[in-house]
Amino acid sequence: MSIMVTGATGQLGSLIIDNLLHFVPAGEIIACVRDPEKANDLLEKRVEIRFGDYDQPNTLIQAFTGVAELLFISSSHPDDNVRLNQHSEVVHAALKAGVKHLLYTSFAFPPKGQIPANHVHLLTEQMILKSGIDYTFLRNALYMDFIDVLGLKEAIQSGELITYPGKWLFNSVTRKDLALATAVVLTTTGHLNQIYELSAPHAWDFSELAEVLSELAGKRIVHRQDSSIQHWIYSFLGKIDTASTSKDMERLMGRPVTSLKESIITFLQV
Ligand SMILES: NC(=O)c1ccc[n+]([C@@H]2O[C@H](COP(=O)([O-])OP(=O)(O)OC[C@H]3O[C@@H](n4cnc5c(N)ncnc54)[C@H](OP(=O)(O)O)[C@@H]3O)[C@@H](O)[C@H]2O)c1
Repeated sequence: MSIMVTGATGQLGSLIIDNLLHFVPAGEIIACVRDPEKANDLLEKRVEIRFGDYDQPNTLIQAFTGVAELLFISSSHPDDNVRLNQHSEVVHAALKAGVKHLLYTSFAFPPKGQIPANHVHLLTEQMILKSGIDYTFLRNALYMDFIDVLGLKEAIQSGELITYPGKWLFNSVTRKDLALATAVVLTTTGHLNQIYELSAPHAWDFSELAEVLSELAGKRIVHRQDSSIQHWIYSFLGKIDTASTSKDMERLMGRPVTSLKESIITFLQV
């Protein structure tokens, strides 16, 4: 059996390959990359490398040929129209190449989101459904990364976590957890034509974040709301569903999601 991962030199893709290497021999894994020069560490892990660029359909058909399971990691292109075209090329190439099972990294709870990226994910899911290929949609929750822009180090310095007013709730997750859940899906059966919401089973709020920061800092960090705070992140967060929860991820991983405390430690390191 061959498992191909696109975007294999990216942050999520490389973590997924590391997890796959725990479950199956390297000879069963194929990394699809657009820049082979970035793939030296994958070669060292004895993973086959194939060139495939979402902007060059012929390279995709060639890369996908003979692949049973294809994990298509959504494009990172900043323009959503370009992204949609790229995604369409990937789905067509998968169909032409005879891929048996197409797994796609979508976004959690997309029907409730109002940002263009949600439409890209929903339209891509529809393209895959229309293709008739067996699918699995891995709807990834918001990465924990967004926490990094909230000013955690400043909060520790000042003793105050200041946020924009509102009833904010977050089900964000680490790429590490997403990678494990995805590798499990790729290496076990029973996932054909399933949709998984890869989010945490509970959401956290800013008060909880302040408590966790207090524990990590060894001093009290107070949470305060201030409507004069201006940051693009609040407009973004207000347009996506970060409050809904699901047990899919923990069920697939067979362990609890990484705690908020453990997840934010990396953002506090110098
Ligand atoms: N859930 C969330 O909160 C969230 C947040 C941000 C993004 N995302 C989505 O999740 C995806 C994976 O996240 P990530 O953190 O791994 O992103 P990343 O580190 O930027 O990786 C994106 C991967 O896509 C590859 N790629 C981009 N354009 C391509 C093209 N034209 N042809 C072939 N490959 C191409 C990149 O190749 P190179 O290595 O050559 O650059 C890279 O390997 C992103 O691409 C984005 O769609 C999700």
